[in-house]
Amino acid sequence: MPRKNHKQLQTEFTLTAQDCIQGMRNIPTESVDLVVTSPPYNIGVRYNSYEDCKNPDDYLHWTLAWATEIKRVLKPNGSFFLNVGATPSNPVFPHELIVELSKLFVLQNTFHWIKSISVETAKGDMLSAGHFKPINSRRFVNNCHEFVFHLTKNGTTPLDRLRLGVPYADKSNVKRWAHTKGQDVRCRGNVWFIPYKTIRNRKMQRPHPATFPTQLAVNCIKIHGYTFEIVMLDPFLGMGHAALAAKQCGIRKFIGFDIDPRYVELARMNIGPSRFDSSCTLASKRKP
Ligand SMILES: C[S@@+](CC[C@H](N)C(=O)[O-])C[C@H]1O[C@@H](n2cnc3c(N)ncnc32)[C@H](O)[C@@H]1O
Repeated sequence: MPRKNHKQLQTEFTLTAQDCIQGMRNIPTESVDLVVTSPPYNIGVRYNSYEDCKNPDDYLHWTLAWATEIKRVLKPNGSFFLNVGATPSNPVFPHELIVELSKLFVLQNTFHWIKSISVETAKGDMLSAGHFKPINSRRFVNNCHEFVFHLTKNGTTPLDRLRLGVPYADKSNVKRWAHTKGQDVRCRGNVWFIPYKTIRNRKMQRPHPATFPTQLAVNCIKIHGYTFEIVMLDPFLGMGHAALAAKQCGIRKFIGFDIDPRYVELARMNIGPSRFDSSCTLASKRKP
C-alpha cells in the first residue's frame, strides 16, 4: 500500500448495531466516497437474527429504500460496489435487482467475482483453484461466481485501473502500445478470481453464513482509486470484511452498520486494536 507513515495514520471506525436506513440518515449528504456492500439476498440464509425471507415485492421496495440513502450520502464522483449472487432457484435475482437500482444509479461496470475456476494450460494440464459450495443436482451446475456491480451517480466516475493492474503476458506489448508509457502493467479487466481462504473450522474461523473475502473489498478500493482522505461505508457490515479492507488500505474513516449486535461485535474483534470513534457503540446496548 502506498501510504507513507502507515503506522501513524489509522483508520477511524464507526461501527453500529442498527438498521442501516436509520443509521445512514445520520450521515451528512455527499460525504461518502466509497460504498462496498453485500445485502441479504432474500434466499432464506440462516443469519443469527435477521430473517432472510421477505415477500419479493417488499424486498425490492426495501432495496430501493436503503439504496436511496446510499445515493444521498455518496459524493458526486463516488462509487457504490454492490456484491450480489444468484441461486439456481432464482437465477434472475441479480438482474432484477440491478434493473430496480437503475432507477437511482448508472451501472458503470460489472465485475465478475470468480470463486473457483478450472483452466486448461497450453500443455493440456488442468489447473483447478478456489472453493465453491457443491450442489447435488441433475439440473444445475455448481455456482462458482457472483456479481460486483459498480454503480455511480452519472456513469462518469474516474477509476484507477492500473492500481489493480496486471503485468503483460506478452512483454512485446509494453513497447508496442504507446499508452503503456513503458510500464509493464495493463488493466486487469472485469474478472476477479478471489478464492475464499481455506478454513478448517467454520464456526471458529468464519462464524457468519454469507461473507465476501476481504480481498473483494480491497479490489473495489483500489479500482476506485484512493488516498488516505477517503470515507468508506458498508451498510450491511456482517463480520466486517469491508472494514478489514479499509484498515488494510489505510482508509481514513470507515462507517459500518449491521442490524445484529453479535455481528458488529465480531467485526470489532476481527479488526483488532484500532482507533474507534468514541460515539461508536452498539445502539441496542446504549444507555438511555
Ligand atoms: C450478506 S451479509 C454481509 C456480510 C459481509 N459482507 C461480510 O463479509 O461479513 C448481510 C448482513 O446484513 C445484515 N442486515 C440485514 N438487515 C439489515 C438492516 N436493515 N440493516 C443493517 N444490516 C442488516 C445481516 O445481519 C447480515 O449480517
